[in-house]
Amino acid sequence: MSFPTHRPRRLRRSAALRSMVRETRLTTAGLIYPMFVCPGKNVRQEVGSMPTIHQQSADQILEECREVESLGIPAVILFGLPETKDPRGASSLSSQGVVQRAIEGIRKANLKLLVITDVCLCEYTDHGHCGVIENGEVANDATLSILAQQALSHARAGADIVAPSDMMDGRVGAIREMLDEHKFENIAILSYAAKYCSGFYGPFREAAQSAPQFGDRRSYQMDPANVREALKEVRLDLEEGADMVMVKPALPYLDVIWRVHETFDVPVGAYNVSGEYAMVKAAARNGWLDEKRVVLEILTGIQRAGADNILTYHAKDVARWLKAC
Ligand code: PBG
Repeated sequence: MSFPTHRPRRLRRSAALRSMVRETRLTTAGLIYPMFVCPGKNVRQEVGSMPTIHQQSADQILEECREVESLGIPAVILFGLPETKDPRGASSLSSQGVVQRAIEGIRKANLKLLVITDVCLCEYTDHGHCGVIENGEVANDATLSILAQQALSHARAGADIVAPSDMMDGRVGAIREMLDEHKFENIAILSYAAKYCSGFYGPFREAAQSAPQFGDRRSYQMDPANVREALKEVRLDLEEGADMVMVKPALPYLDVIWRVHETFDVPVGAYNVSGEYAMVKAAARNGWLDEKRVVLEILTGIQRAGADNILTYHAKDVARWLKAC
C-alpha cells in the first residue's frame, strides 16, 4: 500500500469519480424541521438570534408546514410558547394549548408531514425549569406525571411522535405507560436521551422564551465531558420503551453520535441546535463563510458520524440545495 502504486488522487479527478465513491449522501428524507408555535392569529415574528426562524401562530405554522412538505422534508418538531406560565406548566396540558391546536390544524389540512412534539415543562413554567420545583430543586418524580399527561394531550391532538427533552429519570417509561393506557400504543417516543448541558441552546431560549429564571440545568442535563454516561442514558431510555434516541447538540458531540450508532440498533437522531445555527448564520452574514458549503459540510459530517435523522433549522435551505444538485 504505498506510493507510487497507490495514488488516492486517482479517484478525485472528476466530479463523476468523486460522486461514484462518495460514502455519505446527505438526504432530505432524514431531516426534521423545528418550529415555534405562539398564540394568536397571523403572527409571524422572526427570532433575532436565529435569522429566518419565526415564532408563529397556528395558522402561519400550517402555511409553513405546507412549504416544508412540498420540499420533501418528512417531519417537523413543534415547540410551544404558551399564553400563560405557572409553576407547574399547566398550560402544556390543555387541549386548547398552542401546540395542540397547531397539530389539529396540520391534521385537518391532511398534510402527510410527520408531526413530532417536544415534551418538556421549561416553555410552560414561570421559573423556566424543565420540571417542577420542590425545596428549591427540580423534583424528578413529581414531574413525571405532568410530562406523561402532556405527551398524552399531544397524542390526542394528533401527534405522530412525542419527544421528551426534559432529562428527568424515568420519563420515557412514564410516558409509554400513559400512552398505552389510553390506547396510543402506536405513538412512538423519540427520546432526547443524551442531552448535554450546553451553551449552544442560547438562541433557542430566546425563541422559546424558556431560559431558567434561577440557577441552570446542570442537575438534570448531562456534563459535556461524558460519553459512557450517554450510553447509559440511551440504554435506560430504550429499556423504558424509547423507539428512537437523540444526541444533542450535534457538532461538539460527533463521537457520542458515533458511539450510540455503533452500540444500539435503533434510529439515532442528532439535534443541530440553535447556537450551531446562529454561528453559521452570523459568519455567513459577515461574508466570513460560504453558508451553503459549510451547512452541507456540517450536516454531512453529522450523518457520517451515524445520525439517521438530523433536526436542523437549516432543513428548508438544505432541501432546496439538494434538489438543485
Ligand atoms: C428544552 C429544549 C431545549 C432545546 C430543545 N428542547 C433547550 C434547553 O434545554 O434549554 C434546545 C434546542 C436548540 O437549542 O435548538 N426543553
